[in-house]
Amino acid sequence: MKYNFDQIISRRETHSTKWLKFSDAEVIPMWIADMDFLCPSEITKPMIQRIDEGVFGYTDTPQSLTDTFIEKTKSNTGWQIDKDWVVWVPGGVVGLNVACKTVLAPGDMAMIPSPIYAPFTEAPENMERGFVKTYLKDSNGRLEFDFDEIGTLLSEDTKLLFLCNPHNPGGSVFSQEELTELSRLCEENGVIVCSDEIHSDLVLDEGLKHIPFATINEHNQENSITIMGPCKTYNLAGFPIAAAIIPNKEIREDFVRNTKGIVSHIDNLAFVAAERAYSDADEWRAQLIQYLQANKNLLLERVNKVEGLSLKGPEAGFLAWIDCRNTGLNSPADFFIQEAKVGVHDGAWFGDKNYVRLNFGCPRSVLEEALNRIEKAFSQKN
Ligand SMILES: Cc1ncc(COP(=O)(O)O)c(C=O)c1O
Repeated sequence: MKYNFDQIISRRETHSTKWLKFSDAEVIPMWIADMDFLCPSEITKPMIQRIDEGVFGYTDTPQSLTDTFIEKTKSNTGWQIDKDWVVWVPGGVVGLNVACKTVLAPGDMAMIPSPIYAPFTEAPENMERGFVKTYLKDSNGRLEFDFDEIGTLLSEDTKLLFLCNPHNPGGSVFSQEELTELSRLCEENGVIVCSDEIHSDLVLDEGLKHIPFATINEHNQENSITIMGPCKTYNLAGFPIAAAIIPNKEIREDFVRNTKGIVSHIDNLAFVAAERAYSDADEWRAQLIQYLQANKNLLLERVNKVEGLSLKGPEAGFLAWIDCRNTGLNSPADFFIQEAKVGVHDGAWFGDKNYVRLNFGCPRSVLEEALNRIEKAFSQKN
């Protein structure tokens, strides 16, 4: 491999949210969704050059960034995005919140498939809008929609559905059939879909392909807000930037209006990082995927041998949603953190305390150490 994903990098001195979370320094942090890998020089060198220019005034979005993003999305997914559809925002979560404000009037509701990354449920709360949850079914370890329940729960007050594809925390890459059925229900009920596809450039399972919700049919394209961005794939969470792709002019203009005076402008360096990521870091991404596939295989092999634990995915990304329902533990996350000293993300934050989410975007030796600890702690559990 050209890139060294085995390298251990100390992050405590960088004010890393991930690494400063646990007061017990023995705990290996494997919770929040950033990776412990170096960003490739294909991205960092142009950023350093930009710093060396020394002037950091207000900056327009480079057209070359939008062009590169469009080209990359076309080659990754086949979706031909028009440059006018793209609205850049400082981060995916900003996009979710503005989407809520744009689509929902007071009294309207969002439908949220749960368990899910908590900012999806926080967005309607932030915007003083309601929401209703539909529960994803655990089907042999894969999180799947319960279409009967969705059909029953959608009411005339539901105007927005939040889709997270690939799913966080489950890691499901939703299929053409699943997206088509979801699309049928949304069209029948006049629901606009905000589809967060921020994990879509890291599909791990061979034979699976990311399908943007908007590409299922013309209706979806006109009735959706798609969020994509480089932050998960290229480990750029510290430089927030995401694209909201909104083909419908009226929705797009409302969305842009709702950002005014509230949403900050985008960092100079985030523009450089995002453009270089999309244009020059393909080889890094390909090798990262290989490394993550191997980490995932190791995790699957060992976690599934631990009594009470079960894992199938993820089909994409670097987050494993571990089923702990058979452990008999009241708080599996507490057990992982306090007994195994492995700092997982508590499933309760996503809506199910009987699971934990473990971030395996780390050097193999760190993952091995975490697995040793998990095995030992569970073998000593009474
Ligand atoms: C599905 C999803 N959307 C958005 C985000 C956060 O995006 P940002 O940091 O760009 O706001 C995350 C981070 O984990 C995520 O998993």
